[in-house]
Amino acid sequence: MKADILLGLQWGDEGKGKIVDVLAPDYDIVARFQGGPNAGHTLEFDGHKHVLRSIPSGVFAKGSITNVIGNGVVLDPVLFRGEAADLEADGVDLHSILRISKKAHLIMPTHRLLDAAGEAAMGKGKIGTTGKGIGPTYSDKISRHGLRVGDIISEDFENIFKEARDRHVRVLSEMGASVDFADLKQKESEWLEAIDYLRGFELTDTEHFVNKALNDDCSVLCEGAQGTMLDIDFGSYPFVTSSNTVAAGACTGLGIAPGRIGRVYGIFKAYCTRVGSGPFPTELFDATGKEIRSIGHEYGAVTGRERRCGWLDLVALRYAVMINGATNLIMMKSDVLDSFEEIKVCTAYRLPDGSVTEDFPYCVGRDAEGPADVEPIYETIPGWLTDISAARRYEDLPATFRNYVKYIEEQVGVPVSIISVGPDREQTILR
Ligand code: GDP
Ligand code: IMO
Ligand code: MG
Repeated sequence: MKADILLGLQWGDEGKGKIVDVLAPDYDIVARFQGGPNAGHTLEFDGHKHVLRSIPSGVFAKGSITNVIGNGVVLDPVLFRGEAADLEADGVDLHSILRISKKAHLIMPTHRLLDAAGEAAMGKGKIGTTGKGIGPTYSDKISRHGLRVGDIISEDFENIFKEARDRHVRVLSEMGASVDFADLKQKESEWLEAIDYLRGFELTDTEHFVNKALNDDCSVLCEGAQGTMLDIDFGSYPFVTSSNTVAAGACTGLGIAPGRIGRVYGIFKAYCTRVGSGPFPTELFDATGKEIRSIGHEYGAVTGRERRCGWLDLVALRYAVMINGATNLIMMKSDVLDSFEEIKVCTAYRLPDGSVTEDFPYCVGRDAEGPADVEPIYETIPGWLTDISAARRYEDLPATFRNYVKYIEEQVGVPVSIISVGPDREQTILR
């Protein structure tokens, strides 16, 4: 069997959690390949809402599905324990359905302090991170200083931890950041307790586990976090996250060879949103932007921050489809546009020198707060002015809506296979 991937094509929060939950019953394994508790993946069913951060979105699916936290993930033991406890309280027997890679890196309390200090030092140019210590943890991984899940079974673990902590404290002091040592001590003892809790899980060489499963004809769905435009290499650097959110990240983040990848599901909203700083060419600063935010409840699942809203950007979408080799598209939150008479779609950018491009350029602005230095060129499409949230078959959707879908398919060159018309699991149309 080949492994399929589901990942975000925009700036995150496209609805990955919802669709992984919908597709999970068709798979034997659901595996997260990168990111950490910066993610907030929302699932809704039976009138309940669940937000997952580090744990894969296959945990609620019926059947014998194994969920894997891959080596590409960074794990905060304290947040993991909280998330796991919530799931166990909801009746999920997590210990029996979850495997955690020994090669996943651990987020320490001092990583969060470093994240905050780094942001404070950047002042107006800050990235607007989630403050979860993501950047510093991946930095330690790359500079070969990181602590891994597999280390926690070592008798020497507390010493390894203390050495890393002391190094972080030295860096913090060089940065001029003040450290509340009493608070840090408290957080560290909580952290070490959470490490003990983590020891009770199936710590696994997940690359072997996943590859053996594929050899045995088991199906695997790789779940991405964040989105392509937040990728460390291909996103709007430096306003990105610190991991490879693109399809290639599933190979390195799980140990799956490129030839074993099957479908790549690219998920996008019928419009665009972004949390944190950085360029966002189609951002709307007017009443329409506010309306999209209010109808779409565009507030961060992790930080509660307002999401910036704008029209669908086909320049960025085509770029994301290219980088990921997306084979299938999934369009989310289509219902949010139900009441708009006209819908705009950005088809090209006008660059500062006046030329027009359909290719996403090197840099669309390094200014954290100001508008992007490209001007979006729009096409206007008539809205459908119909409540589509109760539709369950493609044929039930109004012709104007289907034209919008057809237009996107033509522009991007990939079929839209799934359409979401509301947050609930049931509000999903499979074509
Ligand atoms: P993720 O990070 O990609 O999993 O996405 P988030 O969970 O952060 O954000 C998606 C938000 O939109 C969540 O609040 C979902 O409940 C909600 N949502 C998902 N699909 C739809 C949809 O089709 N329509 C509406 N109105 N809301 C949706
Ligand atoms: P999901 O998986 C949206 C953004 C942050 C910030 C930048 C860097 O729910 O789609 P970080 O804490 O990663 O160093 O922050 O990336 N960001 C996200 N935005 N959805 C996410 O995850 C995000 N994870 C990080 O807002 O701009
Ligand atoms: Mg999210």
